[in-house]
Amino acid sequence: MNDLEMYREQLAICDDRIIDALVERNAIVEKIMAYKEKYGMAILQPAQEAKQERRLEEKLKDNKYREEIRDVFQRILRNSKRIQARKLFSYNIVLIGFMGAGKSTISDYLSTMFDMRLVEMDQEISEREEMSIPDIFATYGEEYFRNLETKLLKEMQSEKNCIISCGGGVALREENVVEMKKNGRVVLLTASPETIYERVKDSDDRPILNGNNNVEFIAELMEKRREKYEAAADVVIQTDNKTILQICEELITKLMELDGR
Ligand code: S3P
Repeated sequence: MNDLEMYREQLAICDDRIIDALVERNAIVEKIMAYKEKYGMAILQPAQEAKQERRLEEKLKDNKYREEIRDVFQRILRNSKRIQARKLFSYNIVLIGFMGAGKSTISDYLSTMFDMRLVEMDQEISEREEMSIPDIFATYGEEYFRNLETKLLKEMQSEKNCIISCGGGVALREENVVEMKKNGRVVLLTASPETIYERVKDSDDRPILNGNNNVEFIAELMEKRREKYEAAADVVIQTDNKTILQICEELITKLMELDGR
């Protein structure tokens, strides 16, 4: 055997060790999940995640291959998140609720923590049309926009393990709700009109509120929509005075309860 052949054999042995370590690591991730579930512990533990990252940084500090190894670890950590997400949610998580209820913020956090694909409906529609939402309303009217919402929602039925953040009007069409429920669980986020007003008062990208951005109008429109939102929801979460982490934990717990876990 020449040197080159010997090195290749050593490399193959190394790869086998990496595979074995990864299999072992994934099995430990599953054990941690099962432990948290058994003892009703919080699934999301950002502080622990940060600690793990600091430990890695410390370990890699003087390593010649620091960048390369860090890159691989980012992948490994993302995959761990995906293992957790797949175990917890075999369906799409569909967030509905009034403008400013926190759908985008919560979706964004969840998609990061579980490495799940995020579909922000307004953003997706806006990108496809190459126009802002207010411009779509102004140019083609609300009905046109609502039809785009329905079309996108139908497309999402071929996906699973995604987070879908709906625009505030999506759950108002019965046809849309039927689509959402085909392979998704619907989570309604609520907040008081005062909280909503505080969250949306400085934005002008919501044509429905244009010229009507005040607590009274919000309260009235919210009341008109309430019944439809509630009828669509599998789970309801009230978001006033809660942190993003608290809301996400409540969401996960309630979804797990739906599955009888
Ligand atoms: C709408 C809500 C908006 C956007 C559009 C219409 C509504 O989404 O889809 O301006 O009818 O409530 P957000 O709830 O994300 O603001």
